[in-house]
Amino acid sequence: MNHSKIEKNVGLMAILVVVAISFGGLVEIVPLFALEETTKPVEGLRPYTALQLEGRDIYIREGCHVCHTQMVRPLRAEVERFGAPSEAGEYIYDHPFLWGSKRTGPDLHRVGTRDYSDEWHRQHLVNPRSVVAESNMPAFAFLQHRILDGKITAKKMKALSRVGVPYTQEDMDGAKDAVKGKSEMTALIAYLQNLGQAYRRTQIIRTRLADEANK
Ligand code: HEC
Repeated sequence: MNHSKIEKNVGLMAILVVVAISFGGLVEIVPLFALEETTKPVEGLRPYTALQLEGRDIYIREGCHVCHTQMVRPLRAEVERFGAPSEAGEYIYDHPFLWGSKRTGPDLHRVGTRDYSDEWHRQHLVNPRSVVAESNMPAFAFLQHRILDGKITAKKMKALSRVGVPYTQEDMDGAKDAVKGKSEMTALIAYLQNLGQAYRRTQIIRTRLADEANK
């Protein structure tokens, strides 16, 4: 076809532009659905416990992800500060993802492996300035006084199991008791302490498999 015909016909040009762009998108995105690296959980990944799951919902509700990302990029400065680069397989049970797009505070994807104690996290959330003098993070002290009843925790797990998180009936049966009476602060800290643990377990499993292969 004569190219000047396309250039003079806005309608045809618009259609062809859309086709060209969609093709670019398809080529980039579709193969990811078939790649093991992006669809298979890393070896050490476990579904969130009932308490961690409630903590994650509090993290979302309070907008922690607005100031904190959960994605360590493979850049030297990030790896030195936050830990090993994040892998796609670590996020498979995350619905929704909490990658974030802005870092007012540090990335938290590996914060559970930084070996802060639960008490450090509590003090930091009650009054960030009490442990990090120059911090401009808001305080979340009220979370200590809000008590969970666990009434819908099992339902949340059921919903997640529909989209592929491997919760068992036993997990769901025990959910309410695991959560009831605990404070939102406790749940949030349980969630924070778990961040990066899947990766830590994965490294141990991979090292062992490599050792066995070398024998
Ligand atoms: C307005 C932005 C903002 C919000 C919202 C926010 N933070 Fe922070 N956060 C920061 C800043 C800045 C720092 C760095 C200073 C410090 O350690 O307090 C930080 C540090 C942290 C750290 C220490 C990380 C490390 O590696 O030392 C944790 C854990 C944390 N925040 C958790 C949370 C949680 C959980 C929430 C939601 C309840 C939250 N933050 C909400 C800004 C924020």
